[in-house]
Amino acid sequence: MSKIRARISGIHAWVPPYILNNKELESMVETSDEWIVSRTGIHERHILKGEGLGTSDMGAEAVRGLLEKTGTKPEEIDLLICATVTPDMMFPATANIISDKAGIKNAFSYDVNAACSGLLFSLVTASKFIETGSCKKVVVVGSDKMSSITDYTNRETCVLFGDAAGAILLEPTTEEVGIMDSILQTDGSGRVHLHMKAGGSIKPSSHETVDAKEHFIYQEGQPVFKFAVTKMADIAAEIMERNNLSSKDISYLVPHQANLRIIEATARRMGVGKEQVMINIGRYGNTTSATIPLCLWEWENKLKKGDNIILAAFGGGFTWGSIWVKWSY
Ligand code: ACO
Repeated sequence: MSKIRARISGIHAWVPPYILNNKELESMVETSDEWIVSRTGIHERHILKGEGLGTSDMGAEAVRGLLEKTGTKPEEIDLLICATVTPDMMFPATANIISDKAGIKNAFSYDVNAACSGLLFSLVTASKFIETGSCKKVVVVGSDKMSSITDYTNRETCVLFGDAAGAILLEPTTEEVGIMDSILQTDGSGRVHLHMKAGGSIKPSSHETVDAKEHFIYQEGQPVFKFAVTKMADIAAEIMERNNLSSKDISYLVPHQANLRIIEATARRMGVGKEQVMINIGRYGNTTSATIPLCLWEWENKLKKGDNIILAAFGGGFTWGSIWVKWSY
């Protein structure tokens, strides 16, 4: 019997309309367009505005659009996984809320927290449910309202992040396409460099934690940068080597969009040219779990069946990973 693989059968994304550009940031903190562009490659990012709107609202927009464009009925979905570090609330899972808002009634759903690698961790998890035959239609949604955990008085982090959601539909196939191979890794000792200090069980929320601004992203930029550059590049190269793929075999590298310099280092290590790399960090910033579907969505019309694509990410945890995908439509 032929092997069942999980193929990507649809992709959609949603970004909130409000654009926060570098000029506006210059009026908020001591920074400059020149610094931001030269150190990160970011020109602008989208921010979700509006009372009572959260990660699930962006996720539901992306999922509704995905179902509509793929002609899928919400009741056909067996499983929905949401990758996020900015859940609507501590519990229940944002995946459950997205399912409810998108009319998905016959599925089970849960969240995956792997920071900027969340989309890859979720995609691999979802693919196993397809490969074993337990599920036929699975939605993976990466959604993050990073503006809800960003301190807009801290110039070291507020220039980096944006809000967005992207959704991917996975279905079974016996053709030689889909998720072909993956490598995921974690090093929990990296948590000291990138985390949120309060609001969890070690340090529940209090007046003191709010006053000390401990509900925002804490990031030591340089150590994170060093790890990200090496780990993301190494893992992307490793998946190519173990599958005998050369740079000529690769149609696109789809890197997590945290910093243009990290993306360029990964491309160099893989030996792929600029035209083979999906880059949109300039317009969206780092949208954490949404960066990879946001790229695939923007490049969807250029992709052809059989294209070899390498997804690669690095994020808080530390977490990192790469996936080899053969495009299926
Ligand atoms: N505007 C102007 N100056 C700034 C700004 C700013 N927005 N931010 C920092 N600076 C200053 C610093 O204060 C410092 O000044 P000093 O030399 O007087 O002390 C100087 O610029 C250099 O700061 P660095 O931190 O060394 O700058 P660096 O080149 O490392 O860039 C950055 C910082 C962009 C954060 C980079 O380190 C980076 O991209 N790190 C990795 C981010 C990442 O990949 N995160 C993982 C994913 S996120 C997640 O999982 C949620």
